[in-house]
Amino acid sequence: MKKNRILIFDTTLRDGEQCPGASMTLREKLEVARQLARLKVDVIEGGFPVISEGDFTAVNTIAREITGSTIAGLARCVPRDIEAAGKAVAPAGKRGRIHVFLATSKLHREFKLGKAQSQIIKLAVDGVTRARKLVADVEFSPEDASRTEPDFLVEVCQAAVDAGATTVNIPDTVGWAVPGQFGELIGHLHGSVPEFRSGKAVISVHCHNDLGLAVANSLAAVEAGARQVECTVNGIGERAGNAALEEVVMALKTRGDVYTGYTCGVKAKQIVKASKLVARMSGLPVQRSKAIVGENAFAHSSGIHQDGIIKKRETYEIMDPEDVGWGQTELPLTKHSGRAAMAMRLRHLGFKLTDDEITSVFSRFKEIGDKKKFVYDDDLGALVDGQMTKVPETWVMEYLNVTSGNHTVPTATVRLCKAATGRSRKETVLEDAGVGDGPVDASLKAIDRLTETSGRLKDYAIRAVSQGKDALGEVSVKVDFGDGDLVTGKGASTDIIEASAKAYLNAVNRYLNNGRRKKKPRKTNGQP
Ligand code: KIV
Ligand code: ZN
Repeated sequence: MKKNRILIFDTTLRDGEQCPGASMTLREKLEVARQLARLKVDVIEGGFPVISEGDFTAVNTIAREITGSTIAGLARCVPRDIEAAGKAVAPAGKRGRIHVFLATSKLHREFKLGKAQSQIIKLAVDGVTRARKLVADVEFSPEDASRTEPDFLVEVCQAAVDAGATTVNIPDTVGWAVPGQFGELIGHLHGSVPEFRSGKAVISVHCHNDLGLAVANSLAAVEAGARQVECTVNGIGERAGNAALEEVVMALKTRGDVYTGYTCGVKAKQIVKASKLVARMSGLPVQRSKAIVGENAFAHSSGIHQDGIIKKRETYEIMDPEDVGWGQTELPLTKHSGRAAMAMRLRHLGFKLTDDEITSVFSRFKEIGDKKKFVYDDDLGALVDGQMTKVPETWVMEYLNVTSGNHTVPTATVRLCKAATGRSRKETVLEDAGVGDGPVDASLKAIDRLTETSGRLKDYAIRAVSQGKDALGEVSVKVDFGDGDLVTGKGASTDIIEASAKAYLNAVNRYLNNGRRKKKPRKTNGQP
């Protein structure tokens, strides 16, 4: 590896997915992993295999399918975690990495783990040694490193390297660090552990954004000797999120005058596609003014700026939007377009669907083609998303009728169908009506009654998927069914009431399939 190559470790599918309500299905995770591979990130952290069957399968499937990037699975310094991670990444062969972590700060040692410094070192060494028996590529993270006593941190890093860690990641777990100080800490580690200086082991950083400094801290670390940056697409992650991949990459590329000589293998032209895909799959929309990937990131509204841009783009733009994948010309499809044309467009957009999936998307394509003049790329993305968010549908909506207006009590009539199961051989069709504060509220109340669930809507977002008054409306909801976990649901339609009801029913179906029966444990950092 070149000395100044900055490795990009993407943790969208692990830390990003830990963001409340962002959980993705296997199909969604796989689609994101494929895009991360097209983006050419160096490492994809696919999940935390021991935490659930879903996480194990996701990491394992990604390790089997994705080529090119290293595939990592997270583990505490606990034998069963490490075994699960080793098994999950095994199909990646030499590209499999086990990422073990253990908290090292005084606060975590005393209050969370109840362990002395010497015990922490022993646990770390045992964990790394065990992982090295399973894979050659082991990363160790001293959790809450930025609040760990620097000299003890050096000791832990040296012990992990001596035990065989090839990467030592320095997490700013709670976003406590500020750039100058964090840079100094990384410089101190770089100067104290000979293997970091010789390149035998890589220093990585993993910065959270609680003070909005995750990217600044990551860049300060690079200047001080870090050669791997952990980040997520759109900056999603625990609490305020992680360092945003697109910002780290574009800062390195755009400010080559400052970050001289550093290289990074990410294909920047794939950034916007990755951002849109992650926003859709995670149900976490990107704020309009977000750097690089927000709708307004390259929009110029003031006359002076527009005039400047026309005369010379560089007057008000430090990056070319096309370099990150904005503004690629698109040829919208219409209802006259055939299955082959639609399938070709989907392939061009990077979606890999089976024949059955294409057939299902095509039938939805025809439905919306009848309702709107042009079907744009983003519309197609929403249709594919509908396909991927599909969970076994306990309930299917057959009929929805709403009456609403400024002098009427909003009323919704909903008919749902429940497929025959082993126990009940007959299909069940139920119909009910509900009234509410508005047509959406009325529809959701009717769905609650019919499905005998009681969801509390914690978040509701609607956006026009593409342009024009006939645009598809895409609704994303986060629902609390009473067990503390937020369940995401998505739905799209040219009718926003129907999109809302579909999104809610999608959440109900997810809950009935996963949430109610197998509650996924939240990330737990404590050692047993
Ligand atoms: O923020 C953190 O400390 C983490 C570790 C598991 C790397 O996510
Ligand atoms: Zn983290």
